[in-house]
Amino acid sequence: MREWRDSKGWNGVSSPAGSLPPDKAGLRRNFRRRAATYEQYAQVQRAMAGELLRLAAAPAGTARRILEVGCGTGTLTRELRRLNPTAWLVAVDLDPEVLRRARAALSGDRRTSWLAMDAEALCRGEFELIIANSVFQWFSRPRETLARYHGMLASGGLLAFSAMGPATFRELGQAWREAVLAGESSPPVPVAATFPAGLEWVAMLHQAGFREVCLSRELKVVSYPSVLDFLKAVQGTGAVSPRPRPLTPRQLRRLLMVYHSLFGNGVVPATYELLYLTAGK
Ligand SMILES: C[S@@+](CC[C@H](N)C(=O)[O-])C[C@H]1O[C@@H](n2cnc3c(N)ncnc32)[C@H](O)[C@@H]1O
Repeated sequence: MREWRDSKGWNGVSSPAGSLPPDKAGLRRNFRRRAATYEQYAQVQRAMAGELLRLAAAPAGTARRILEVGCGTGTLTRELRRLNPTAWLVAVDLDPEVLRRARAALSGDRRTSWLAMDAEALCRGEFELIIANSVFQWFSRPRETLARYHGMLASGGLLAFSAMGPATFRELGQAWREAVLAGESSPPVPVAATFPAGLEWVAMLHQAGFREVCLSRELKVVSYPSVLDFLKAVQGTGAVSPRPRPLTPRQLRRLLMVYHSLFGNGVVPATYELLYLTAGK
């Protein structure tokens, strides 16, 4: 861990990239590569941030100490600061370059600390609100991490997070299964199909000791002009597998054709399963 403070009083901690396990290093690389285009393509994540803040409006406005996990380029961070100008805000992300962008939009904000590290390794601090927008689906040890967050939440505090669920991009999964890789011994599964389902989150939250657990779920269908536009938009956010297995040009052509023939009707639909969870202590 390296601690630093710059001339404007911006303080932070950064862990060396080499200390991350391969999946986390892959995630970090994906989001870092797309840091410049993330906000342009992240309309769904922006809508999720709005709904999450609606659910956590009371503590977001009044908490004295807030931990934001996976702040990315700062979509939610800026809103949290707008709602609550005085809270001590700790914003954590795997990648320092992504954090730099979040910080630039809040330059001069002395009440925010920025940590570039694996948020699953956090274990210190006490917060009235722990919040994360579209991050927890990437966790590799969600059970243990939720137990740690329970330990870091002040009594009466709230954990609030949104996450993508396993029905996300189900059309892509179906097209993938039905055609493109038929005959291959181990066809790659779209990473979204491996995300925990809403009820799994509920069970993990109870196990970790949280109470008053609430789940809401939305299936949001977004229309794109073509399958390529859809894939480009997803890539533009960096929210892709940490272990990519690129398709050959022939497989890609076939995937596009099958997706279009199964679902295309002037435009091409892609489903996002959006989960919102709140849990108290
Ligand atoms: C889809 S982006 C969401 C960013 C932001 N929360 C927003 O609302 O736009 C997911 C972010 O979570 C971060 N992330 C994923 N796993 C993480 C972890 N274990 N620790 C810290 N950050 C993580 C990624 O680096 C990425 O910036």
